[in-house]
Formats: sequence, structure tokens, C-alpha cells
Amino acid sequence: MSLIERDKKVVWHPFTQQQTSGDPLEIVRAEGVILFGANEKEYIDANSSWWVNVHGHAHPHIGKAISDQFQTIDHVVFAGVTHPKAVELAERIVAKLPAKLQKVFFSDNGSTAVEVGLKMAFQYFHNQNQDRKRVVALDGAYHGDTFGAMSVGQRGYFNAPFEPFFFDVDYLDFPTEEDQDAILSHARKLFEMEDVAVLIVEPLVQGAAGMRMYSAEFLDQLTAIAHQFGSLVIFDEVMTGFGRTGKLFAMDFCEHKPDIVALSKGLTAGVIPMGLTVASQKVYDAFLSEEKTKAFLHGHSFTANPIACAVACASLDIFDQKETFENIASIESWGNDFIEELNTVSCVQNTRQSGTIVAFEIETREGNTYFSDIREQAYTYFLEHGVLLRPLGNTLFVNPPYSISKKEYHRISSVIINFLLTIDSVS
Ligand SMILES: Cc1ncc(COP(=O)(O)O)c(C=O)c1O
Repeated sequence: MSLIERDKKVVWHPFTQQQTSGDPLEIVRAEGVILFGANEKEYIDANSSWWVNVHGHAHPHIGKAISDQFQTIDHVVFAGVTHPKAVELAERIVAKLPAKLQKVFFSDNGSTAVEVGLKMAFQYFHNQNQDRKRVVALDGAYHGDTFGAMSVGQRGYFNAPFEPFFFDVDYLDFPTEEDQDAILSHARKLFEMEDVAVLIVEPLVQGAAGMRMYSAEFLDQLTAIAHQFGSLVIFDEVMTGFGRTGKLFAMDFCEHKPDIVALSKGLTAGVIPMGLTVASQKVYDAFLSEEKTKAFLHGHSFTANPIACAVACASLDIFDQKETFENIASIESWGNDFIEELNTVSCVQNTRQSGTIVAFEIETREGNTYFSDIREQAYTYFLEHGVLLRPLGNTLFVNPPYSISKKEYHRISSVIINFLLTIDSVS
């Protein structure tokens, strides 16, 4: 039986209508930015394997870290126990974050990192007997698929079956250049009530909404308003963290820093799952008490798994090499050239860039929708031409591993341009 046949018998894939979707792509090996399919067909990993892979696949430094750590401690309970790699990782992350963010809580993925942040925010006020329960988020947000994370995300067809179980959230419109003042005055009205516990945002780029970008100036003003009226602020840097926006964190572009940040994806270089929630000393202090019930009573079996911590530390070693940010700067400049080329194609709309991310929409008669037919057409064309790139509806975007060469980047951009020209010629 082929791998695909065996898969179909027993596997249930994420975000997939199993009845109508085609066969999954078979990948048997990965190296650098290349994924190898059956018969050694090569695919460039143009979206970094769901935006996680930052240094390319099978990086030898990361491989060595995994093997060394396995020989040392593979796993140990983290309640009442510590180990060197967890402490090293926490120290190194805190040193890279703004001074305000001091205490590192470990979990397993982006959704849990967000979930932990929300629970910390709610309990922060509960522990101080303050009645603040409201949440403010941005329209279009995606923060993950657990219940809290879904609750604060965009409501719609993705989570309609679960909506009756969500808590209430006030959404601010996504800021465009023209309506920022109106949105900020709406925000002020919400925060003035002094019952908002927390504002949660994806800083500068909303990922799953279609790589929608907004300015650090707007975010600074929004964060300042939330803080002025005593609310906490969570930045969900699950997607934007670790170099995606051109700096290590999107918040590095901002003057006003959050009280809590959620990290995952690039944290472990796309090799092994892990999430971190880093809180300010002020948040942490609200859990200190003689009363045990004021503690943060939350944890996961694999909290601070030593192998995941070792991978994250090895990934930070690579970030500490100056070539990594030189590569990021090169990807930014190739992205710039790519945008110029895209702007000459008539079906292309709304080109934009944040660091290593280039995104745009293909104009279709259906408008912007995740289930756009163009998505399937584009996905299939790219695979046939050796590029693995998952469009978000009619939004196409490129966010490759930082180890990509100019030649490989150019291969992605020319396959995309050729696809767009086929669209242009039929419309
Ligand atoms: C901004 C953001 N937050 C949270 C998540 C959820 O992360 P995970 O898929 O690891 O649960 C994602 C995933 O795409 C994300 O982009």
C-alpha cells in the first residue's frame, strides 16, 4: 500500500475537508530550504512550513543540540524541578526582550502560549479582587485554536460551531491609514470604562487574516491608551517573533511594550513544539501570596521539555551570528524588488512587506475569501513548479527560512509571477 493510501486510512489532517481534498503531498526528507517529495522531487519551503522554520531544515547545530541534550536529560517533570537548559533559555530570552518582561512560563505551542497569557491576565485582576473581565482585540485576529485563543480571535466560519462557548470580546476595527483616529477614539471609550482586563494583538502583522500590516505608531497609541486606564496588554508574537518583521521581535519597533508576550513558532526554529509566555514583574508579583490558590495553577506534561529548550538555545546561537540578520536584510531587499515586479502585474493588489514577509492579493470576482477558487489553482500550480506555498484564500505571501539563497528566492518569485501572468492572460 502506498504512503498516501495508508495515510487516508488512519490520518485526520488539520484545516482539511477530508472528503473533498486531494491527496496530501508526500515529503520524505528535508534539507536547508528544500523539501524532498517521493521520487526526490524538490519543493522550496516558501512559507517556512507554517511559518516556523527560520534557519532551514536539518541545521547541523540544531541536530547536535538535540542529540547532546538527549544524552544528558531527555525529559523531567517541571513542577518543583528545574534543569540547566530551561534556565539558560529563560535567561537568554529575557535578555533579548524589553527589560520589562522578566518571567518565563513554558508551554507547548502558540495557542497554549496565548491561553496562558489570557489566564495570567484574568487571574492578575482576580488575585487583586478587581472586577475586570473584558477583553479588547482587533478585528481579523488569529491567536490559535484552543478555546480562549479562539474566543479572542476573529469570529467566523472557522469557529462557528464553538461560538456559543466563547467569552465576550470587544473588537476594534483593523486600522487602515484613514481611520486610525476613529479607532483610537473607540478604543479610548472602551478602556475608559476601567473594566477591561486585557488588550491582545498580533503586533504589526496579522498572520492568518492574510498578512495584514499596520503601523507601530498606531500600536504604540493603542497600547498607551490601554495602559493609561489600567488594562494589561498581550502581544501575540507567535508569528511575528524571531526575525520575521526584520527585527528579533515586532515589539522592537514599538516604544510602548506589552505586559505579556506569547512566543512560539520560530522559537524552536520549526523543529520541535514549544511555547513561551513571558510576563512583567508586575504581573508575576500579583501571584505571590501566602495563599496557594493565588498561584498560577496551570501546567502541561511537557512543560520546559529539555530537548525543546536545547533546540531553542541552539536557535538563539544562530540568531547571535551576524550572518543571520544579514540574511534577513537580504531577504528584505529581495522582497522589495519582488514587490516592484508584482506591481507591474494587473491582477495584483495591495502589495505589502514587513521584514521577510511579502504579501498581496490576487484580484478575483469573489472578493477576499479563504475559500477562493484561486487558492487551489495557485497551490497546485506552485507544487507543479517545485514551490510549497499555501495561499490564504486569494492572499499570496512569501515568508521563507532565513537561510534561503538569492537564487532560491528568485525561483519562488518567478514561479509566482509566471502564475500571475497566466491569470492575467485569461481575465
Ligand atoms: C499569531 C498567532 N498566534 C497563535 C497561533 C497559534 O499557534 P499554534 O498553531 O502553534 O497553536 C498562530 C498560528 O498560526 C499565530 O499565527
